[in-house]
Amino acid sequence: MKIINISYRLPLSVKKQNTKTVFTPSSGGLATAVLSYTQKSEQKLTWVGIADFDRNTWENHKNEFEGNFEIEPVYLDRRLNRNFYNIFSNSVLWAMFHYFPSYMEYNEAAFEAYKSANEIVAKRVSEIYEPGDLIWVHDYHFMGLPKLLRKLLPDAQIGFFLHIPFPNFEIFRILPSKAKRYILEGILGSNLAGFHTWDNVIHFTECVEKLLGLSHRNFVFSQDTHRTRIGSYPISIDFEKFHNAYDKPEVAKLRSEIRELYQDKKIIFSVDRLDYTKGINNRLSAFESFLKKYPEWREKVVFLLVIVPSREEITKYGERKSMIEQSVGRINGAMGNYKWSPVVYQYQSVEFDKLIALYTSADVALISPVRDGMNLVAKEYVASRKDLRGVLVLSLMTGASKELQEAIAINPFDKELTGYRIAQALDMDEKQQEKRMRHMQKYLAKHDVFRWATRFLTDTIDMHDHDNKAQPL
Ligand code: G6P
Repeated sequence: MKIINISYRLPLSVKKQNTKTVFTPSSGGLATAVLSYTQKSEQKLTWVGIADFDRNTWENHKNEFEGNFEIEPVYLDRRLNRNFYNIFSNSVLWAMFHYFPSYMEYNEAAFEAYKSANEIVAKRVSEIYEPGDLIWVHDYHFMGLPKLLRKLLPDAQIGFFLHIPFPNFEIFRILPSKAKRYILEGILGSNLAGFHTWDNVIHFTECVEKLLGLSHRNFVFSQDTHRTRIGSYPISIDFEKFHNAYDKPEVAKLRSEIRELYQDKKIIFSVDRLDYTKGINNRLSAFESFLKKYPEWREKVVFLLVIVPSREEITKYGERKSMIEQSVGRINGAMGNYKWSPVVYQYQSVEFDKLIALYTSADVALISPVRDGMNLVAKEYVASRKDLRGVLVLSLMTGASKELQEAIAINPFDKELTGYRIAQALDMDEKQQEKRMRHMQKYLAKHDVFRWATRFLTDTIDMHDHDNKAQPL
């Protein structure tokens, strides 16, 4: 038996070393979760995803890949992938599911490409599937896949997890009928469909009830072939990894460099992929409003703003970058001087040790998405503060805010109040910081990513086994 894990991205980075191409495993949150589960449960793993390299490169170098799992790259024609990934997945589903319906760019060809990509992946999975395998499908790119797999492999154990929000009925209904039906029926092909929060679970079940006319009993939908349980599974992080990184000598060195550089100032920090859902412009406006309202903080605080490039080919992302850069320029131009830049902006990714050094130097982490399924940055910041210092300011529009109750909560659309919350966070005494951090760390140490993966997969298996033992439905 093995786990077949399916996500758009493969857990693999392709590096050019001189003239050589090298494939190495990459350790994002999802890879950590899945790999740790397979190690603990001693199961084999095959990861299926869309290749961002060509077939020849892989065939020539795959033997050098040093992960202890199999990789099954799926190659999509460039145009098909563009319609599938850039347009339907990211300019229709991503926009709509994050409550940006006006950003939606629906077209028929893109929907057809989405269906084709899901079919190509289903076929590949059915070729490598062996009875007893456990199939785990991830995210909005593959919402049609569970149903396609159920048709090809009626007895398979299939879990589906959505890493982004599932919107409420009034937003979801905006999609053309055939796309709505395809998505809902697609997800219902699984034995277990997981979401980050109960709100998402309720939105999904309400859409199924209203649009497919099915009713559920205790969040279980019965169909002819199987039943599907709908549940809340908030994703998390490898708590120990972030907590223990505080003491790494490389991190300590970088931290003292940062602290020395800003020794007479307090540091506000944020890091995000460049995305309109992250509320980066709202954050900058709130910071500006804070500096206007509390001029005594000028020259005594610096905002380190790290933005990681993402989806650069998509128009809305390029536009957002210009907007952010204009705001940074406006704030620094109007409020800064030759000794002080209020915002220090970086448009690059940061490697792990530097990230931890930044987290653990920051007096305040300002996390203000206008919509986010979970937001792991908030959890990483809290976990890395082994010194029990720092204040988390967190948007109520994130899944994480449901769990991290001791954060200072903000509505990112209310810039005046957010400005006030920033001042409150900067003024918080150490005893209060410690108390809040301790509570949140206790919670995260228990609710970590291993628990998330284990709960999800165990429940998928239970749901499947229960149906197989039961009488015909
Ligand atoms: C979100 C999605 C992931 C996605 C990631 C990065 O977290 O839930 O599925 O992989 O963003 O986006 P990208 O488009 O670069 O894969």
